[in-house]
Amino acid sequence: MRRTQVCNTLSIAHPILQAGLPWVSNPELVAAVSNAGGLGVLHPTAGLDVDGDLVANLQANIRRVQRLTSNPFGIALYLPNPRIEDMIEAATQDGVRIAITYGGSPALYTGTLKDHDIVVLHQVSTVRHARGAEAQGVDIVIAEGFEAGGLRGPDKVSTMVLVPQVATSISIPVIASGGVVDARGVVAARALGAQGVQMGTRFAATQECISHQNFKEAIVAAIDSGTVIVGGDRWPTRILRNGMALRMKEEGLSGPDNDFEAWEHELGMAMARPAMLDGNLEDGIAYTGAGTGLISEIVNVAEVFKELVDGGQALAKQLG
Ligand SMILES: Cc1cc2nc3c(=O)[nH]c(=O)nc-3n(C[C@H](O)[C@H](O)[C@H](O)COP(=O)(O)O)c2cc1C
Repeated sequence: MRRTQVCNTLSIAHPILQAGLPWVSNPELVAAVSNAGGLGVLHPTAGLDVDGDLVANLQANIRRVQRLTSNPFGIALYLPNPRIEDMIEAATQDGVRIAITYGGSPALYTGTLKDHDIVVLHQVSTVRHARGAEAQGVDIVIAEGFEAGGLRGPDKVSTMVLVPQVATSISIPVIASGGVVDARGVVAARALGAQGVQMGTRFAATQECISHQNFKEAIVAAIDSGTVIVGGDRWPTRILRNGMALRMKEEGLSGPDNDFEAWEHELGMAMARPAMLDGNLEDGIAYTGAGTGLISEIVNVAEVFKELVDGGQALAKQLG
């Protein structure tokens, strides 16, 4: 993949980002991605004990990444988190230079982050939100299509149609996210107008990731229809098709359809921990992207990059 403006803004060699995955974006994964020339992204919950302190965990993990790589890396910030300000303070104290914000309005903390010279990327799933992010001074927009794992926007716009519309609606760079798994996805994302890609599921199944071996093997075993959407029309959430997912799909959320508390209680991050980190795929839920059927091996991060970069170049040449 050729260098783009995103490479200059983030000081990275390849415009390939690893999504900040709750519980499993551990320092070793983040550093491996950054050392391969992409952007590793730490999640504050990575490896967090059930009764652990979120901010202390983030700080310890930032320092561990800094020991493992001298290349840039980012942190994922879930905007509604009650400890968001403490997390921003910890990140600025330790010299973090890049933040990926999601789950809330970019009006909230973009200014604060930029005051600390932090480059801000914001995740959106509609054109309207992309325009809003640009207006708030965000540097790069990540357009997350419906193929991506986890909680999706209620408008359910797929990557294929979201990315080009976002790219023509704003003048800041766009990163495509959702369903990008291999060199074909990378080349397609560029054709759609993205200046780079963000990948989650592919990295969750790498050797360096602390996601449980059962989760990694389930990603590899899954076929094209290996994920389902639960959470109804208001809180569509893409998870691995396991017994729990099918029960949830049948029963729906126990609260009313518009009830975020019901979503959090039944499909939120705490519910994903047992499956993704502890490997209990029978009783837990596992956020997984629709591209899971394209992943056939658990390899290391360097091998993923080799396929994306060399394969992407060969494919672009072949297409002319
Ligand atoms: C294990 C896992 C956990 C995720 N958790 C969240 C989340 O809590 N919130 C969110 O907005 N996106 C979440 N995502 C989506 C990622 O941020 C990213 O957009 C997505 O992984 C890209 O699509 P892909 O999985 O097809 O690569 C998650 C994805 C995975 C695979």
